Amino acid sequence: MRIGVLTSGGDCPGLNAVIRSVVHRAVVDHGDEVIGFHDGWRGLLEADYRKLDLDSVAGILATGGTLLGSSRVQPAQLRDGVERAKGHVADLGLDVVIPIGGEGTLKAARLLSDAGLPVVGVPKTIDNDIASTDVTFGFDTAVGVATDALDRLKTTAESHQRVLIVEVMGRHTGWIALHSGMAAGAHAIVVPERPFDIDELTEVVGRRFEDGKRFAIVVVAEGAKPREGSMAFEIGATDVYGHERFAGVARQLAGELERRLGKEARPVILGHVQRGGTPTAYDRVLATRFGWHAVEAAHQRAFGMMTALRGTDITLVPLAEAVERLKTVPHERYAEVECVL
Ligand code: F6P
Repeated sequence: MRIGVLTSGGDCPGLNAVIRSVVHRAVVDHGDEVIGFHDGWRGLLEADYRKLDLDSVAGILATGGTLLGSSRVQPAQLRDGVERAKGHVADLGLDVVIPIGGEGTLKAARLLSDAGLPVVGVPKTIDNDIASTDVTFGFDTAVGVATDALDRLKTTAESHQRVLIVEVMGRHTGWIALHSGMAAGAHAIVVPERPFDIDELTEVVGRRFEDGKRFAIVVVAEGAKPREGSMAFEIGATDVYGHERFAGVARQLAGELERRLGKEARPVILGHVQRGGTPTAYDRVLATRFGWHAVEAAHQRAFGMMTALRGTDITLVPLAEAVERLKTVPHERYAEVECVL
C-alpha cells in the first residue's frame, strides 16, 4: 500500500508522534510505502512531498510541532483544488491519504472523501472540541502548560495584591479554561459557551478582597464574550480562513475590573506557548494509538472514517459525523466548579 500523510491547521503537541506511528506501523508491519506532504493541504495541492522512512521519523516521538510543517488553507482554495488533489493522488499511486488535523482539516477531509478520495482522518487540537472523540491529543499538554502558568501567576498576583486575568486558547469552547482553572484553583473561569455577566464577575472577584484575600485569578477562554448589554466589548475581525481574530477579552476584562474594583488588574495572554513544546506522555500515547489505527483503517479500506477515542478504546467514526458539530463543555460540568461564570 502507498500512504500519504499530512498535518494541517494549527499545530499541536503529538503530531510527530502520529507521523512516527503511521510510518512504523505501515513500513515495519505492513511493508507499505509512506510519503508526507509538506505544509498540510498545500503540499497535496502542489504535490510537494517527501518519502518517509524509519530514519526520517527517528527521534521525533517526544518533539513538538510537526516534521511535515502545517498551514491553513482557505476553504474555497480547497474546493477549487479537489480535481487537482485527486490527480496528484492518482499520479503518486496513493491508496489512502491520512490528514491529521482539527475542525477545518477534518471538514476538508470530508469534502475530499465525498469527492471520491480515499481518506482516513486523525483528529488533533489542543482545544479538545472535536465531537465523536472523547479527547484529542494536544489537550493534555496545553492544560499542563496553562496550569503551570496559573500556579506561577498566583505568587506574583499575591505579592502585588492584583487581579490577573489569564487568557487561554479556546475559540469556540472552554475546555482548556475549565480544566486548567480547575487544576490551579482559579477564582473564576469564563468560557465561550456561557456569555459572562460583568456584574457577576465583579462581585465574585470583589468578594475575595472583602474576605481579606490578597489576589484573584480569573481564567478566560479567548472566545468568551459578555452577555448582551453587560459591558462595552470590542469584537474581533474574521480572517481569510473564516476564523475570528479576537480583540483581547483578557485586556478588556482587566480594564473593566480595575475600573470597577479599584484594584490593579493585569491581562496575561498565554497564546501559542500552549501549543508548543514536548507533548505529555498521555498525548504521546493517544497520538501513537491514533496513528496505528489509521493505518489499520486504511488496510481495511475504511475510507471516509476518522480515528476516535471512546472510553479507553480507539474506534472509527464517519468523518461526516465528526464534523457535524463541535464538542462544547456540557452544562453539568459547570456544577463541578465553584466559580464558572
Ligand atoms: O485551533 C487551535 C487554536 O489553538 C485555537 O485555540 C486558537 O484560536 C487558534 O488555534 C490560533 O491559531 P493561529 O495559529 O492561527 O493563531
